Amino acid sequence: MTRVELIVHGNFVHSKSFDELEVLEASYVGVDNKGSIVFMASAEEMSGVEAAFGFTLDDFDGRLVDTLAGKDRADGTFIVPGYIDTHVHAPQYAFAGLGLDMPLLQWLETYTYPMEARFADTDFAAVVYKAMLKRMVAAGTTTACMFGTLHAPASVDLARYSRDVGLRGLVGKVCMDSHAPDNYIEPSAEDSLAATKDFVRDVLALDNARVRPVITPRFAPSCSAELLAGLGQLATDFGGLHIQSHISESPAEIAWVRDLFPDAASYADVYAAAGLLTKRTVMAHGIHLTPDEMSLFARARTGVSHCPASNFGLTSGILNVLDLVQYDIDVGLGTDVAGGPAISILDAMRLALVASKILTMPQHQANRKPNSDALSIHNVFYMATMGGARVLDMHHSVGSFAVGKQFDAVVVDALAPDSPFDVFATDTSLHALFEKYLILGDDRNHAAVYVAGELIHTRETFSHSAESS
Ligand code: GUN
Ligand code: FE
Repeated sequence: MTRVELIVHGNFVHSKSFDELEVLEASYVGVDNKGSIVFMASAEEMSGVEAAFGFTLDDFDGRLVDTLAGKDRADGTFIVPGYIDTHVHAPQYAFAGLGLDMPLLQWLETYTYPMEARFADTDFAAVVYKAMLKRMVAAGTTTACMFGTLHAPASVDLARYSRDVGLRGLVGKVCMDSHAPDNYIEPSAEDSLAATKDFVRDVLALDNARVRPVITPRFAPSCSAELLAGLGQLATDFGGLHIQSHISESPAEIAWVRDLFPDAASYADVYAAAGLLTKRTVMAHGIHLTPDEMSLFARARTGVSHCPASNFGLTSGILNVLDLVQYDIDVGLGTDVAGGPAISILDAMRLALVASKILTMPQHQANRKPNSDALSIHNVFYMATMGGARVLDMHHSVGSFAVGKQFDAVVVDALAPDSPFDVFATDTSLHALFEKYLILGDDRNHAAVYVAGELIHTRETFSHSAESS
């Protein structure tokens, strides 16, 4: 008989679809020793569960977490699926909040490459990575698809630190053999491929179900055709590894790709020709994809990471999410630190709303397309959870609450004493509290964060490390 290790009692809120939220009030979720959800039941359904699993709530000898105990306002506490950051540059956390005064290509040369070059020093990397991971988990992120740097040692360390905090971490060693500064470039495609192969083996050797290596060509301009093709082959050789890169972020970048790859039909075609568009590929941005490119993405089942904070910060443009949805392309959210300054997916949700609203404004009527309705909070919450899970091809295990999925969750305390927002008697429904939290909440509302049933963060134990100050 399946042994139930953990039972969580609470109000569960998750996405049923892009448009639809589901609320399971005062329900019970049971989790086994592998972190999998084995039952979900209302109070009335619990007697059946007790009979089926051979326990009673009164004599249950595992962990019983009652998020509603002692609450005079049960609607103030609810549990959401852990957030999924589908695109974040871990080393760039070192300058998050700085240097957003240039467009993409100048920003890379001026701020980004010099900072990333410093990650040759694994001691420096340790300080930045540990500080970032701590903040990320406090922000409710339970799965993150991360770029490291060119350096294999620091990137393997990032995977190890990620494992140590309990996060689901997809980690890539960045590859660049072209158009990068002398102190931050790999000498040849061959060198980059060999280093990547070693990196993949080292991360797989960590032997942890939560941490995975990701094949990471930075973007087409910094990779030769030979390197791109070699990386596509490597992903296949290892049985279908995840792949992450950037596409169609800024007009100057797109023009550059056209110059560098004159024989390719499009930017997307550069990646497709190298075998880099797969169902486990995450492409960041995709703001300016053409209909042909979107068809290519849809056929390949390649997902897009929408990073609105970065798109505003680097003045790259505004993605029309509904265009991608119409092509049946999966869309998740990314913080894109440090193009986006904030490590929290809540921030990405809010800016995705703002971006979509801008597209509906009269100033945009000139290039208004059919799909220019503003997104709803249900849409952006879906992208932060299920959408991200689909982009990463992890929707069978995370992204919502269902029997057979992993229990990755954030316990939200909307009425926390130090909550950054107030709630008045005029509207105290669970739906209203959920909306207030999504728009105004932060780490202070995150009472607890779970990955695979393991408690990886509580608000009470969070303190800023001396190292990060
Ligand atoms: N394109 C290539 N590299 C980067 C990066 O580090 N950040 C962003 N936003 N775009 C990129
Ligand atoms: Fe990026």
